[in-house]
Amino acid sequence: MSSLAETAAYDVRAVRADFPILGETVNGHPLIYLDSAATSQKPFVVLDAERMFLEHANAAVHRGAHTLAAEATDTFEDARADVARFVGAAPENIVWTSGATAALNLVAYSIGNVSVGAAHGADAAASPYALHPGDEIVVTEAEHHANLIPWQQLAARTSAVLRHIPVHDDGTLDLDAAADLIGERTRIVAFSHVSNVLGIVNPVAHLVALAKDAGALTVLDACQSAPHLALDLPALGVDLAAFSGHKMLGPYGIGVLYGRSEVLDALPPVLTGGSMVTTVTLDHAEFLPAPQKFEAGTQPVSQAVGLAAAVQYLAGLGMDAVHARERLLERRLRDGLREIPGIRLLGDTADPSVERIGLCAFEVDGVHAHDAGQVLDDHGIAVRVGHHCAQPLHRRFGMTASVRASTSVFTTEAEIDTLLDAVSGVRSFFGVGR
Ligand SMILES: Cc1ncc(COP(=O)(O)O)c(C=O)c1O
Repeated sequence: MSSLAETAAYDVRAVRADFPILGETVNGHPLIYLDSAATSQKPFVVLDAERMFLEHANAAVHRGAHTLAAEATDTFEDARADVARFVGAAPENIVWTSGATAALNLVAYSIGNVSVGAAHGADAAASPYALHPGDEIVVTEAEHHANLIPWQQLAARTSAVLRHIPVHDDGTLDLDAAADLIGERTRIVAFSHVSNVLGIVNPVAHLVALAKDAGALTVLDACQSAPHLALDLPALGVDLAAFSGHKMLGPYGIGVLYGRSEVLDALPPVLTGGSMVTTVTLDHAEFLPAPQKFEAGTQPVSQAVGLAAAVQYLAGLGMDAVHARERLLERRLRDGLREIPGIRLLGDTADPSVERIGLCAFEVDGVHAHDAGQVLDDHGIAVRVGHHCAQPLHRRFGMTASVRASTSVFTTEAEIDTLLDAVSGVRSFFGVGR
């Protein structure tokens, strides 16, 4: 990794010029946006792609026979192919959803529906992924609520048991516990590629191997990896994966469910209606194959076009270069925070083999995260404060809230240094630790 870091090569100043929002001032200071893990900013190419589509090519896709509709359909499907290529997949393995939350819920509901069907005597061969009472779903203690609550709900619907892989003090997963937990009762292993609080890149291949040995389905939450790492989902070997457009320089309202063909073919649709059928009678409907069978209703067309522009932009920078640069920034941020008295990092370790993205969550001793965030905001610095939709993980570290700084392709060393200066002043601002 270090050699990559040394050769990290893209022009950050040129990249900054691509993001119109970076011209904004906040509380009299130039905006320092360190909240990309919550939602990323959008470069001109993404804004332009959506606007150009709406101005010049907008029509309902997969419906009309007129020229504009045919062109819009081609553009929409080209966008799917672009996003597929970005994650090493084929277009038919990419299902558009409204976000990662929707993608994860789609999987959980689809499995829930086949499970309920199986319990009522539906053909077992048609539902290889049906859960039965006592089956187990394994998640980690570090999951975003979007990759936890759908599994809680699925367990409740099917009388399955939800189990979790614990996190060590240093933020890494307890892989010994994982090996003990994942066994013959395990039917699903759902975990994040990168935690949105710890920033640690989890050992996907290791967990996939454990799950495969147990014959369990793997579901990867790739929300925080897709914007930062070169992804090859088929090579990672996961069955299903979810990610979100708005976190990877793309538009709101679009996400992706990736699935291996065999799995997508076997899972039934959740939403039904227009766009996902072949023949419909008053009593019955035949569904299109995946991915269309999961895309009922009018598609998020301009959003898909915007997301394709976003992945092209990221690919143009080079994902290895993006990751290498973020590693540099992450180390500067983490090392700097460690030196500030009264700062406690969540899941910290000096072990250089622990791979991370540019993200640090911390608490300021004696100061509530919201108050710390307010002081940073006074300096024009945007960070996330709260539990970041990961309450169990915060509880694990004995806290209810933290401050999270997260970088993007446009983040500079100087911005990190300004953040560190501002964090250094937080405790004295509140008269703490004197
Ligand atoms: C790790 C992770 N998973 C899932 C989500 C949910 O993504 P969305 O709200 O875009 O559906 C997020 C968003 O914060 C996340 O960070």
